[in-house]
Amino acid sequence: METLYLTTDPSTRTRSIQTAARLLREGHIVAFPTETVYGLGANAFDEEAVLRVFAVKGRPRDNPMIVHVHHPRQARELMQEVPDLFGELVNEFWPGPLTLIVRHNAAVPDVVTAGLETVAVRMPDLKITRNLLCQTGVPVAAPSANLSGRPSPTDASSVFADLQGKISAVLDGGECPVGIESTVLDLTSAIPTILRPGTVTREDLEDVIQSRVLFADANAERPLSPGMKYRHYAPQASLVVVSPQHAESASVLADAVAKQLSAGKRVGLLAPEAMQGMGEAAFFSLGDGTPVEYARRIYAGLRALDAEGVGVILCPGIAAEGIGVAVMNRLLKAAEREI
Ligand code: TXA
Ligand code: MG
Repeated sequence: METLYLTTDPSTRTRSIQTAARLLREGHIVAFPTETVYGLGANAFDEEAVLRVFAVKGRPRDNPMIVHVHHPRQARELMQEVPDLFGELVNEFWPGPLTLIVRHNAAVPDVVTAGLETVAVRMPDLKITRNLLCQTGVPVAAPSANLSGRPSPTDASSVFADLQGKISAVLDGGECPVGIESTVLDLTSAIPTILRPGTVTREDLEDVIQSRVLFADANAERPLSPGMKYRHYAPQASLVVVSPQHAESASVLADAVAKQLSAGKRVGLLAPEAMQGMGEAAFFSLGDGTPVEYARRIYAGLRALDAEGVGVILCPGIAAEGIGVAVMNRLLKAAEREI
């Protein structure tokens, strides 16, 4: 199959969005940008199309998908009952990188939810995406647009690298401004629980709902979010994360680089701009090193350094606070080890 590449400069945007919306409605698989990462979309009401998304990604069938909507109303239409906190959270965080887990009604096919009683819903924030979802007219089920186990794509060329020839189209909306996947919040438990941390932090959520929010225990026997049990985001090179207590001193990182070099490894360094030049074969900048910059660039960095063919990627960790919780969650899932 030839994958259509749909550009969105001012002269092509309207037609590209129309084309992508029509393809989605007709049961095709279309990759599209969101503020977090690119999604691999299918009409959520079309079981065959959703099944094809699982097949194309190589995604286990027991890992449910997020349903993307253009308006909170469209999410309500999928729910059995609307949780008390839904209105407040949506007012504050939608459109945006917050996914809510709620009980669904009979409108939602089992393939989307992997047979669970709950569904994940989210209203993404990019204008292009909202236009697309609005014109599609049906909710769009979409996981991240990577092959299963690869870093999530944050630009259209990364989607192409994984899925060219396997999907009908890619809508190019440039680089994703957030860079890591949405916060997933379960509203069906007695106390709202974060199943996957993101840039909407626990503190952000607690401020709005004025009550406690929990983090799911990643080691629980039955993972609350089926996706959490799979290895994730792995680059081809082995990723070594320098623990945040040590990462602040450039000398610890420099020592780690030197050790890999003397073991004969080609080293890729994924680090704040100021740390460049430790003898690495390839460098990918994490800008000024703030958690927001880490989030925006880590997946692009893992892909870029892989493309350079390095054997090991070293990355200094950051404190697991605020957005740093989500950044370290992704880094450690991708990492072979932490030193
Ligand atoms: O930012 C994002 O969330 C991106 C963009 C494309 O929207 N999407 C994304 O989808 O990251 P995916 O499929 O890669 O991750 C969805 C996560 C998985 O961990 C999945 O197990 C969990 O959400 N999930 C989906 N439905 C669920 C449900 N009903 N109950 C618990 N967890 C659920
Ligand atoms: Mg994913």
